Amino acid sequence: MSETKPATGFKRATALPFSKPTIGDREVDAVTRVLRSGWITAGPETAKFEEELQAYTGAKHALTFTSATSALHLCLSALELKPGDEVITTPITWPATCNAIVLAGGKPVFVDVDEKTRSIDVGAIKRAFTKKTRAVVPVHFAGLAVDNDAIRAAAPGAFLLEDGAHAIGTKLRGKMIGATPDAVAFSFHPIKNVTTAEGGCITTNSDELARKLRLLRWHGVDKDGWKRHHGVGKASYDVEVPGYKANSTDIQSALGRIQLERLEGAIDRRAALAAIYKERLSGIEELELPAFAQGKDRHAWHLFTVLLDPARARMSRDDFMEALRERGIGTGLHFLAAHLLTYYRKTLGHKEGDLPHAERVGDRILSLPLFPDMRDEDVEDVARAIEAVLAK
Ligand SMILES: Cc1ncc(COP(=O)(O)O)c(C=O)c1O
Repeated sequence: MSETKPATGFKRATALPFSKPTIGDREVDAVTRVLRSGWITAGPETAKFEEELQAYTGAKHALTFTSATSALHLCLSALELKPGDEVITTPITWPATCNAIVLAGGKPVFVDVDEKTRSIDVGAIKRAFTKKTRAVVPVHFAGLAVDNDAIRAAAPGAFLLEDGAHAIGTKLRGKMIGATPDAVAFSFHPIKNVTTAEGGCITTNSDELARKLRLLRWHGVDKDGWKRHHGVGKASYDVEVPGYKANSTDIQSALGRIQLERLEGAIDRRAALAAIYKERLSGIEELELPAFAQGKDRHAWHLFTVLLDPARARMSRDDFMEALRERGIGTGLHFLAAHLLTYYRKTLGHKEGDLPHAERVGDRILSLPLFPDMRDEDVEDVARAIEAVLAK
């Protein structure tokens, strides 16, 4: 650290959370309108939200779900995996991704990541690809695109389910993530770039997959509640497959529609904050900053993550997060390496050292505050708090 270290006493007067959704009068009005309308579960607002998600991503179909977790689970269930079918994925993800593989009957095959992008290493996918590989589930980590064409080439014939939980608005080579022959799952959890409180969506260009997902998200029944209630077609129904109950509601969709309108502005603001972080933190040798987008890619900046070097900092990542919290700075942990979590250790036999890059990321990573309503001065406060903690 340089001699320009500030005094070690820095502490914010009011705590800065690591994330906060932007909820204004327009969101409140939209939700209130649905609440007063007499129809609050999936119906006309959800149909419009899905049309708008299609238009935004350029995909042929967009189907909303209760969460990205259920979207991932049902999409993998639609593949009708057989025992022994393998699904290659990244350990640097929320457990939703690998849990969905197991719950859909597949065997997760974790491969290592690139430390700079924290995303799956395409070369490692190629090495792990076998005759048993049915699907690959990469994560567009933090909102930075993985190269889906390179992944397809590394795993020919495998279904490519992109976990885009962080990536609504992410672009790869100038094109929005979402329009794909296979599928992308998005999340609308409150910390995400678009929120519906809880919610998610699958986009796909496949008519057949969209048809299966429509069945799986609503009991396996060939019509939805809105149509039945409003006498569209006959009242009777049939079950083609035993389905789940994973539809979202018009209350969520009304919120999501306003959020989607805000998205482009929100990404611009997140990118501006990320640029300030980069400038402000790049001299701090205890931290490794995240990768920025190259060429015509666009980072959606869901998260701004740094890796803490525990030897240089002379403290662990967890102690560093705690010390920042004591100074009024909230942080997040995205993510621990999933292959070392108890269930995956036990069932897959993983141990320390198996995926060294992922483990290095999982031991060192933390997410700094990043949300559109943050002020430039808040970034300065985060930087000062980091400097004060490291100066101790
Ligand atoms: C990479 C990733 N995948 C999936 C999910 C699950 O999203 P949801 O909370 O909408 O179920 C998350 C949630 O944080 C995530 O970060």
